[in-house]
Amino acid sequence: MEASYAQVSGQPVLILREGTTRSRGREAQRANITAAKVVAETVKSSLGPKGMDKMLVDGLGDVTITSDGATVLKEMDIQHPAAKMMVEVAKTTDDEVGDGTTSVVVLSGRLLELAEELINKNIHPTIIVDGYRAAAEKTLTSLNDIAIKVSPTDKVMLKKAAMTSMGSKLVSDYRDYLADIAVDAILKVAQQVDGEYKVDLDDVKVDKKAGESLLETKLIDGIAIDKEVVHSGMPKRIDEAKIALINSAIEVEKTEFSAKISIERPEEMKAFLDEEERMLKDMVENITAAGATVLICQKGIDDLAQHFLAKHGVLTIRRCTQSNMEKLAKATGAKIVVTLDDLNSKDLGYAEFVEERKVGEDKWVFVEGCKNPKAVTVLIRGGTEKVVDEAERSIHDALCVVRDIVLNPSVVAGGGAPELEVSSRVRKWAESLSGKEQLAALAFAEALEVIPTTLAENAGLDPIDILVELRSRHEKGDLWAGVDVFNGEVNDMAELDIYEPLSVKEQIIKSASEVAAMILRIDDVIASGRSGGPPMPPQGPGMGEESEFD
Ligand SMILES: Nc1ncnc2c1ncn2[C@@H]1O[C@H](COP(=O)(O)OP(=O)(O)OP(=O)(O)O)[C@@H](O)[C@H]1O
Ligand SMILES: [Mg+2]
Repeated sequence: MEASYAQVSGQPVLILREGTTRSRGREAQRANITAAKVVAETVKSSLGPKGMDKMLVDGLGDVTITSDGATVLKEMDIQHPAAKMMVEVAKTTDDEVGDGTTSVVVLSGRLLELAEELINKNIHPTIIVDGYRAAAEKTLTSLNDIAIKVSPTDKVMLKKAAMTSMGSKLVSDYRDYLADIAVDAILKVAQQVDGEYKVDLDDVKVDKKAGESLLETKLIDGIAIDKEVVHSGMPKRIDEAKIALINSAIEVEKTEFSAKISIERPEEMKAFLDEEERMLKDMVENITAAGATVLICQKGIDDLAQHFLAKHGVLTIRRCTQSNMEKLAKATGAKIVVTLDDLNSKDLGYAEFVEERKVGEDKWVFVEGCKNPKAVTVLIRGGTEKVVDEAERSIHDALCVVRDIVLNPSVVAGGGAPELEVSSRVRKWAESLSGKEQLAALAFAEALEVIPTTLAENAGLDPIDILVELRSRHEKGDLWAGVDVFNGEVNDMAELDIYEPLSVKEQIIKSASEVAAMILRIDDVIASGRSGGPPMPPQGPGMGEESEFD
């Protein structure tokens, strides 16, 4: 029975709105798989250190240059619903572990490609989904078996992983320097709670400013604010700073309605201005009476109030962003105060020093040595805006990778070695399965090989030759034999110090198998048409075939 169009006593009954299009069965599956494969093809060439970058131009002409899978897909204006699921999977991976976003899309695409071949052999998608699920579980346990346990604070290992994650990026030449920054940043904000490490990535603020070079990128033990001190008469540095955070304007409030004041005599004018001055003076006195030596205000500050603040030697910043205010509150222990009258000494935060320094042409204020040292800033510098932007994404990946290992201290070597090893383990295990499920599990094992073959392809190597050699090396027990893309041969990846967090590899497997299963389960796509679209044909293509699978 057709859901969108039924016959009652010979009368057609329309159930879906006019213009709705619908595709079912294999046709729907094929269209979805094709869309997902196209997305995978798009990012494939950017996998690995020899992968290429993508230049993306948005509707406004803004250009992004990146090799980050999640960013490429985010910037592309993807319409197809199944393709959108691939974008989503990259985003989830990015949110969960921060790296591996290209791999997850490439693997999902390959899983679907091989599923399509099975569908063509008349294997029902649910059997493929079941086989894939079982194989994914086996893959995860195999990954755990081969993973190397490390210490969560093993700086050398953390640095190796950070360097691997940046090795496939534009900033690769500077990865030695930047990896140290990423490791130090995460270890500074890591907290040990009941013997376990906790890391809140929000405690690492990443700021950027084009200019100088990537080697001028610095880790600041505190918070950097891209604002200057408001008044030239104010001190540029305060030691043992007591910091007030205010989120209301330090101005005489304007009335909401317009009022007219008739002033007839000069004395009246003076009294009026005096009153304003007195009010501002009171406000400033509130601040100094509480003991504040630094004032950071989210709103504006009247010129006269600035003058009084300068006279009291209070280092002041205005129009600080909400997110900076929140970070400052967390780092310095200050309370964000709304009404000035309520300010008292208990609301003040503390930092060893607050200082205005030059960053390129601009002046920034640095709040360092905070009461709560668990807040640091990575201030990225670099030749051009585009370099700085891509450096930010790469440092994000590196920070995530280091965090991943601190939270779950296990690593595997990279270069496609773990994928190949678990692929051969899954293949052996699949022999115990029966019938069609075995075919699906074998397809899963084959799909895992897409990582080493793509790395080889992107490095201009022959993927078949590499695969054959990898398989034989792994057969001989060479656990970490992978694609050494720089020397164009198979080598031990652990010896080359190419390490990655186990959690990234796990997430890639989990997300890719989930999205593949989700797309395979769809056998009916009902898209509501835009108003004015062509009417729905009573018998669209692909309809009416009741069962296509045995
Ligand atoms: N020096 C190297 N030699 C061989 N393979 C490497 C090397 N460095 C990294 N790789 C491999 O490259 C792959 C990662 O590539 P890439 O960083 O481009 O993609 P991703 O991590 O999947 O996604 P993204 O970084 O875009 O979120 C991993 O499989 C990793 O093991
Ligand atoms: Mg990566």
